[in-house]
Amino acid sequence: MNIAQLQQEIIKLKKEKDVCILAHSYQAREICEIADFTGDSYKLSVDAAGVTNSTILMCGVRFMAETCKILSPEKTVILSAPSAGCDMADQMDRDYICEVKKQYPDHTVVAYINTTAALKTVCDVCVTSSSAVKIVKGIENKNILFIPDCNLGAHVAQQCPDKNIKLLNGGCPVHANVTKEEAERAKALYPNAELLVHPECKPEVCALADYIGSTSGIINYAVSSDKKEFIIGTEISIAEHLQYVCPDKTFRVLSLKLICPHMKATTLVDVYNCLTGKGGEEITLDDATVEGARRCIDEMIRLGG
Ligand code: 13P
Ligand code: SF4
Repeated sequence: MNIAQLQQEIIKLKKEKDVCILAHSYQAREICEIADFTGDSYKLSVDAAGVTNSTILMCGVRFMAETCKILSPEKTVILSAPSAGCDMADQMDRDYICEVKKQYPDHTVVAYINTTAALKTVCDVCVTSSSAVKIVKGIENKNILFIPDCNLGAHVAQQCPDKNIKLLNGGCPVHANVTKEEAERAKALYPNAELLVHPECKPEVCALADYIGSTSGIINYAVSSDKKEFIIGTEISIAEHLQYVCPDKTFRVLSLKLICPHMKATTLVDVYNCLTGKGGEEITLDDATVEGARRCIDEMIRLGG
């Protein structure tokens, strides 16, 4: 079977089996093409909450599939590639944060959605990269413990100067690996290009950017801009998607290190195998985890909506 035939089979099977396919924007183009919803973490969690199909197939990483299960515990939720974790989400566990909280008893605990479901149960509110600033501004408490990403946290702290934001030493190894020198080099090489970066990049890289935003934020900015050339400072798939959407514009990749192995774990064949019952992993969470984490995600949707 070639790619187009496989895509046709997948479209047929998902209808027959009442499956809704969600794909994060970091997924390969051939997967985004057969998805019912694509977007950043925030959009996918809102989309997941409204799905009416009996099964959700999440083409993304584990914390995203867990978010779907938390929002729709009665549905069958499948993660497309069982190995697709997230290095940032795996950095801090529930017990560690319970210990840290003891040092900051008067702080509201804000968890990036890139965390495990178990960790969310001991936090107050979730944020995504596109909703973090709005949500933190909407929190009454001045004292915030922001976990786990210190780069996103630093970006939020800069936008919310009246908040007292405590950061921990976590982050995305893919984005945090990009250096200021790489950003300077790319800007010198492409002087007419605008630099668009994800807030998971280091503050000194963000400081050189013309725009800082989530994956959807970067896509929307580039599509609606009058400029013709862009350097994309997030997972390389976004530059590829944008090149299809805007063939008259030129998209450069900030660094070839910007490849997330977890997002690359899913192939179109995996999607097909999930629909034929031969692949993927069904996500199961106990009731207490669903209830505890749901409180955090509902608060995100309430404050970020
Ligand atoms: P978004 O919130 O922009 O979708 O980012 C998710 C992510 O994992 C970035 O590395
Ligand atoms: Fe996690 Fe980083 Fe991959 Fe995003 S790019 S899924 S934060 S490891």
